[in-house]
Amino acid sequence: MSVTLNLEIPSSLVKWHGGKIRQIKKIGERFPDFKNVETYIEPFVGAGSVFLLAYQLAPSNTHFILSDNNASLINCYKQARDNCSQVCEVIQELQHDDYYQIRSQFNENLNEESPLQAGRMIWLITSCFGGGWRCNKKGHFNFSQGWSFNKESTIQRLQRLHEILVDDRIEITHSCFHKQLLEQSFDERTFLFFDPPYMQGAYSPGFSKDHHRCLADWCDHLHTLGVQWLQSNAGDEVKDLYKNFIIEEDYIQRTCGGTVERNNIAKEYWIRNY
Ligand SMILES: C[S@@+](CC[C@H](N)C(=O)[O-])C[C@H]1O[C@@H](n2cnc3c(N)ncnc32)[C@H](O)[C@@H]1O
Repeated sequence: MSVTLNLEIPSSLVKWHGGKIRQIKKIGERFPDFKNVETYIEPFVGAGSVFLLAYQLAPSNTHFILSDNNASLINCYKQARDNCSQVCEVIQELQHDDYYQIRSQFNENLNEESPLQAGRMIWLITSCFGGGWRCNKKGHFNFSQGWSFNKESTIQRLQRLHEILVDDRIEITHSCFHKQLLEQSFDERTFLFFDPPYMQGAYSPGFSKDHHRCLADWCDHLHTLGVQWLQSNAGDEVKDLYKNFIIEEDYIQRTCGGTVERNNIAKEYWIRNY
């Protein structure tokens, strides 16, 4: 285990609630030896900061399976891969003064898979107050307006992501983790990184204790198959759910919508079966 992180890892496209960009070094230190990894699976991919690290570390024959149950987010990945220049054009055209109109248009078209929706989403996440993604019970993005932002750096990140995602070893799907895992086959050369919404997460009402128990059952099952996995989680129940595995306590400065909350240091756990 343990890798030296002198790599240049591309930044994730957008800030994401629970995004692991600040913990990337700690994750790299806990990754298994990637030379044996033929399939990397990340079922809660979010903004993809951990995938971007894995992509740098993995050998050239590794296959990547990325999924998340946020359909609008997965549309961003697919459009970044297939229609990157159109997404960039959308971002260039959207205007700061039209923030609330753009937010309404985005929310009215949540099921649309298009470069326009991807551009709106990336633009909203980057220009909302604090930056980040948050939605209400209806699934509508509800952050208020922030400051105008440097579109050039967002577009550069989008183009870098495009260059990675066109690699045909990468598969991107919109799926609940359970369904995604049911469809997979595993062997000892598979590695999974799990970053679910936390047990005590303020923004994870849709991810219940039953979801956590289901994930823990998957982790038990994968272990019996000889598959290695690493997970980030929080909350005392974690200790019980994963009592048969290695649990390391860590203290993390929490972020809200992507902004560091100075006085919010939280206990989290790194859990692994190797
Ligand atoms: C903590 S975030 C992952 C952050 C990611 N590691 C990063 O660095 O950006 C958790 C992710 O789980 C996704 N999610 C929530 N419920 C899910 C489910 N049932 N199945 C799959 N993904 C889910 C959310 O959309 C969110 O992107």
